[in-house]
Order: sequence, then C-alpha cells, then structure tokens
Amino acid sequence: MKISNGAEANVYRSNILGIDCVVKVRQKKLYRIQSLDNQIREQRTKIEARILALAHSRGIAVPPLFLVSKYGITMGFINGILLSKIDGNKSVYLKEAGILLGKLHNNNICHGDFTTANIMVFENKLFIIDFGLSEIIESVEQKALDILLMKRSIGQKSFSIFISSYKKSSKGHKLIIKKLNELETRGRYQQRSLQNI
Ligand SMILES: Nc1ncnc2c1ncn2[C@@H]1O[C@H](COP(=O)(O)OP(=O)(O)O)[C@@H](O)[C@H]1O
Ligand SMILES: [Mg+2]
Repeated sequence: MKISNGAEANVYRSNILGIDCVVKVRQKKLYRIQSLDNQIREQRTKIEARILALAHSRGIAVPPLFLVSKYGITMGFINGILLSKIDGNKSVYLKEAGILLGKLHNNNICHGDFTTANIMVFENKLFIIDFGLSEIIESVEQKALDILLMKRSIGQKSFSIFISSYKKSSKGHKLIIKKLNELETRGRYQQRSLQNI
C-alpha cells in the first residue's frame, strides 16, 4: 500500500515476516540525464541507509534500517504522525526536536532537510526521517543551515523553545549559532520576497 508519493520517492507500507515496514523507493526523474539521475538516486539511497544505521547506533531515534538495495530502503514503520500535521501545543515536541538535532550534530550528522515535515511523533516520542540529503561532515555552516531551515519552518515562539533545548544538547552550539547569525545577515540566505528584489 502506497503511503506517500513524494517529490523524490514513493513510500510503501509493507509487512515482512510479521514486521511492519516501509519501503522507500527513489523514482526516476525524467528531467535529469539518465546516468546522472541513476547516480543521484543511488547516492541518496546509500547515504540515507548509512545515516539511519549510524544514528541508530548512536542512540538517536530514527526508524530501524532493515534492507538496502540500489534505489530502495526497507525500514521500520513508525505508526505516528508528522510533527508538521500536529495542531495545538507542540512545545514538548519542539524541545525534543532541539535535543535530537543537537545529538545528530554532536555525531557530525547534518540532516540537510530538517523541518517539522521530516519528524514523526509516535506515542509522544520523536523519530527523525528522510536522510537523503544528509551528510556526515564536521561543518559549522551545514549545522547552522539545519537550524536555519527549522527556523523558517516554524514560528518565532516555537523556534525559541527549539533553540534553547538545542543549546543544551549541542556541544558546538556557540560557534554554530554564531554562524547562523552570520548566515542570516548574509545576502545569500536572506529571506526576501520576490517583489522586493
Ligand atoms: N519509517 C517511516 N514510517 C512511517 N512513515 C514513513 C516512514 N518514512 C517515511 N514515511 C512517510 O512517507 C513520507 C515521505 O517520506 P520521506 O522520507 O520524508 O521522503 P520524501 O519527503 O523525500 O518524499 C513521510 O512524510 C511519511 O509520511
Ligand atoms: Mg520528507
């Protein structure tokens, strides 16, 4: 049964030997040159699987990895809801999200698409998903970009809850937040409305 038809991948729910799984398959993109498309899909699949395994081994809540093929990943099904879809008070979840991002960064895992649409909530516990754009890299800038994306996907009040718990769990938070401030004042990452350009 298909559960998501994303821009990049199709996600199917499946059951293997009695275990609830999802299979995430990266689809062909016809607008890309085929050989390049194959490379991109293979690389993103590989990195996603690698990071699921690494994060899991470091005690960070991600779906368990079961199988990897060239363009497909089979992982545990999280019977939850996306944080982006939750109405009402999200303070506890935002706090937890800050702790989780700090843990990822302490392990030099930069998510690359860290928004509330890539965080699932199951029984009040958070799971991070969608590591296809992630990198294992000791980069203050990449870490700051993770925070910036989250900042732009939530309101100011939510962000202040998120960032104060991030500070508590991220070892390099001082330099990372300094970089965040730099990025925000630097033209490249400034949020502008098209009409103002
Ligand atoms: N392990 C999982 N358990 C349950 N649902 C999942 C799982 N992984 C992905 N999904 C669902 O599939 C959607 C798309 O998956 P995601 O990895 O975010 O890919 P993309 O956003 O690149 O299409 C998610 O928003 C979520 O609803
Ligand atoms: Mg996603």
